[in-house]
Amino acid sequence: MAEKSKRAQFVTRTGVIAATVGSAVGLGNIWRFPYEAGMQGGGAFLLMYVLCVVVVGLPVMLAEFAIGRGTHRCGAGAIESLAPGSWFKVAPYIGIVASLMILSFYSVVVGWILEYLYQSVVQLFDPAPVGDYSARFGALVANPWRTVGWTLVFLAMNYAVIARGVEKGIERMSKILMPLLLVILIVFCVNSLLMPGAGEGLAFLFNPDFTKVTPSMVIGAMGQAFFSLSLGMSCMLTYASYFNDKMRLMGNAVTIAGLDTLIAVLACVIIFPAVFSYGMTPEAGPKLVFEILPAIFGRMTGGPLWAVFFFVLLFFAAITSTISVTEISTAFFTEQWRMRRKGASALTIAIAAVFGVPCALSFGVLGDFTIFGMTVFDLFDYVSSNLLLPIGGILLSVFAGWVVDRKFLQGQLMANHDCPRWVVTVLRIAMRWVAPACIIVIFIYGLM
Ligand code: TRP
Repeated sequence: MAEKSKRAQFVTRTGVIAATVGSAVGLGNIWRFPYEAGMQGGGAFLLMYVLCVVVVGLPVMLAEFAIGRGTHRCGAGAIESLAPGSWFKVAPYIGIVASLMILSFYSVVVGWILEYLYQSVVQLFDPAPVGDYSARFGALVANPWRTVGWTLVFLAMNYAVIARGVEKGIERMSKILMPLLLVILIVFCVNSLLMPGAGEGLAFLFNPDFTKVTPSMVIGAMGQAFFSLSLGMSCMLTYASYFNDKMRLMGNAVTIAGLDTLIAVLACVIIFPAVFSYGMTPEAGPKLVFEILPAIFGRMTGGPLWAVFFFVLLFFAAITSTISVTEISTAFFTEQWRMRRKGASALTIAIAAVFGVPCALSFGVLGDFTIFGMTVFDLFDYVSSNLLLPIGGILLSVFAGWVVDRKFLQGQLMANHDCPRWVVTVLRIAMRWVAPACIIVIFIYGLM
């Protein structure tokens, strides 16, 4: 008991929702989802994505929630306490590797956001014509000093937040800023819907073309579901270990998945009409959003001001996500290697900085340096989201479905009249069979 009372807990339901939604909603929704959907055929990708969220994402999220809340321990500790000596302890290790990779490339993208924010602020005072959008992005990423510089600046900011333990302050702010983000996204949607190419953009997004369903697309949709819902590396498990016993796991999971998907769709409703209006191509990849946004702002009255708002909000959405990513390895280094919190977060950030540099250079100096045909950036993105997270997801789902006592799972999921018994039965089947089987089938299909 003594140990339990020392542990931090989220006190209110809004606190829980803010932290978990803060982790889930980030660049995954606004940057990664549109670029993946754009590369993989739009509507068909969206449909596959939603299927993956429901069939694989929700069961894995509830598995993580139940294990975390039921033990009030994080990753390795939770598995050790439920099944001492079990080899499922590799799951959190996979999570550490994935978290370090994600932190590395994610920080590069936040670096681009910081540069755009800076440029928008400058534009407020000096409204120069914007010029050619792709050229502008190209110039930024080809400049090694700027991209590496911003990446490191962001990692340093992340360190300052984590090491000083001011996450709570960030969380409190994000309770105000996340709803604002939703509002600004809706304003931008209206703006995009009024563009001449809107119909084409919406058709691309909502009219699935089933010839686009390919192995790589299905793997991409599943990886995106894991990435966007922060699943597969014990992140939600760790957050759930801070839930109190009154929280409703099922209700929270559905809220998180719903909001997360909504924001991803809104981002696409902003991006694709603009893509078609400006005669750009949806297959641009990671740079898509960064080439389109300036065009969108350029068209709005008070554009630079909107841009400043937008990039500030996006920055907050991103930092609440990176905090949760950083937390994974920081918690691991403190608990398993008995490091102090400051040292553990410094180590995490240092590793991310070392790998962040080649990621940052992947669009310029290191553009021709490829491994398995991918730049370092693409490789980190692909391996972490499309391989490591789903593998971690299988392990956590199988662990909750097969290894953990059925009563334990029922107790967690049915607490507070959250859901009737039959739902638990369905979920348990999903954890034992459906989710792992889907992930394995998608892997086999994708690797063919
Ligand atoms: N979900 C976040 C996003 O969409 C990224 C993220 C935060 C994440 N924590 C995670 C991804 C844990 C995988 C695992 O931007």
